[in-house]
Amino acid sequence: VGEGCGKFLNDLLRRNEFCEVTIIDSSSEMIRIQKQLILPKDIHRVSFYCISINEFIVDRSFDLICTHFFWDCFSYKEIFTFLPHCMNLLKNDGFWINSDFIDSEDRVLCPNYLKIRVMYWFFRISTRISARKVESFYHLTIKNSLQLIDYDEIRTGFIKSEVFKKIA
Ligand SMILES: C[S@@+](CC[C@H](N)C(=O)[O-])C[C@H]1O[C@@H](n2cnc3c(N)ncnc32)[C@H](O)[C@@H]1O
Repeated sequence: VGEGCGKFLNDLLRRNEFCEVTIIDSSSEMIRIQKQLILPKDIHRVSFYCISINEFIVDRSFDLICTHFFWDCFSYKEIFTFLPHCMNLLKNDGFWINSDFIDSEDRVLCPNYLKIRVMYWFFRISTRISARKVESFYHLTIKNSLQLIDYDEIRTGFIKSEVFKKIA
């Protein structure tokens, strides 16, 4: 969801020669770039939907949902509305991988906190997103029946990756 320029998609298809992928991205330009990046032999394994996640309706559910630097585009209120809809797309016992910046009030003295403020200033002007900070997906997920099973941080606490499992 919100795959952007397709780097992750390309890597996923390369590492897993059998997986089938559904891309949901509201930007037709991003989908055009993704299609250019993937190898012709893999195109039949990918379904592209140029649509906002809250409008995506399908009569099946998925083994894995990936959101990389996606939730940082949205306010708490927006995530709170989108998340239950996304949860319905995930199978029971399915996995969810989420990566994003670590933006915490506890880290105001950390240089990363300032870097994130500058990034938001730029993105709010250039893309008109309504978010002002990276909301804690983790705290929202608990309410939505996802259990954290793995966590890692890189670049001295700048970026995190979380793996969740949907509990039935
Ligand atoms: C910050 S970019 C992240 C791109 C990529 N995942 C990455 O890690 O570089 C956010 C992506 O989400 C897409 N997007 C924004 N709002 C969306 C929405 N409501 N539904 C689906 N995709 C959306 C944008 O078009 C963009 O590709």
